[in-house]
Amino acid sequence: MLIKIPRKSDCTSAQVTPEHLYLSRRHMLSGALAGLAVAAMPRLGAAAEASRYADAEPGKAPGWFSDKLGATRWQAVTAQGEAITPFKDATHYNNFYEFGPDKGDPAANASSLSTEPWSVVVDGEVGKPGRYALEDFVKPYQLEERIYRLRCVEAWSMVIPWLGFPLAEVLKQVEPTSKARYVRFETLQDPKSMPGQRSGFALIDWPYVEGLRLDEAMNPLAILAVGMYGRELANQNGAPLRLVVPWKYGFKSIKSIVRISLVAEQPATTWQGLAPDEYGFYANVNPTVDHPRWTQARERRLPSGLFSPNVRETQMFNGYADEVASLYSGLDLRKNY
Ligand code: MTE
Repeated sequence: MLIKIPRKSDCTSAQVTPEHLYLSRRHMLSGALAGLAVAAMPRLGAAAEASRYADAEPGKAPGWFSDKLGATRWQAVTAQGEAITPFKDATHYNNFYEFGPDKGDPAANASSLSTEPWSVVVDGEVGKPGRYALEDFVKPYQLEERIYRLRCVEAWSMVIPWLGFPLAEVLKQVEPTSKARYVRFETLQDPKSMPGQRSGFALIDWPYVEGLRLDEAMNPLAILAVGMYGRELANQNGAPLRLVVPWKYGFKSIKSIVRISLVAEQPATTWQGLAPDEYGFYANVNPTVDHPRWTQARERRLPSGLFSPNVRETQMFNGYADEVASLYSGLDLRKNY
């Protein structure tokens, strides 16, 4: 997103997962409402369910994560739908500018990030502010698997099985005051472990900041993720805690969160601040509103390469219109992109 001209490297075959790996992963999206169907799922053994993602490299999960995995509500998968993106693509084709501007930089550099111990501050317009050790922050919530499309503003997309819990549950717990209208999120700032924050070339004014309107944040589709593919988050995907808002462009899904603030005014966010004509606060996936430099009508679904670009039509709100369109009734989505 920092580069003014789309890079050839964004679509070379070198980054494409071999077809046999792609075809071996036939786990499917059960539809736009898939994420909401999890409540009906039986609790299954964590080991049995994690083995669904045989291509996922085992992680080094902290104890609290392994404990919670046993009670996870796994999502139903059906034979109709969209293939889950291979783990290799989801963990080696990333945007995480704290670790460099190229798609391979986060996987190459993010091992320098230490995620234990980790604490999260909740503050601002809340009745119950606090600083929590991550394991205490996560403790009250049951993990759920949510298989969501991820659509980047750069016009590539993936399908990812996240493990997390509804953001709404956290917000209810901290008791927003009547003044709270937005939620502001902040990523760790630690130039020692994040080379992108040390770089003289980075245009970003660190830390990375994102925000949602409070009613958007309360929508059941919005989750805080601690895992993916039946294991903990890889560092390059935003360990140990990231936001996932599947109806918005990927840049809204802020990684490695250390602060969640309830605020009265719309927060200044990273990409909107950098290029307000290109990246709006709402950033809802919208095939009818093009980016000034490229179309948003179509997307490249990974794995994608020169001879098999795997291009598909982009859906309004990334296919989640039934769940979220009512949040924007009366709002001009051309102006509020
Ligand atoms: N969060 C932080 N802190 N820094 C980033 O550079 N990139 C965003 C988002 N969250 C980013 C971030 C962008 S542009 C995208 S598309 C998604 O993360 C990519 O998530 P993924 O690498 O897990 O696919």
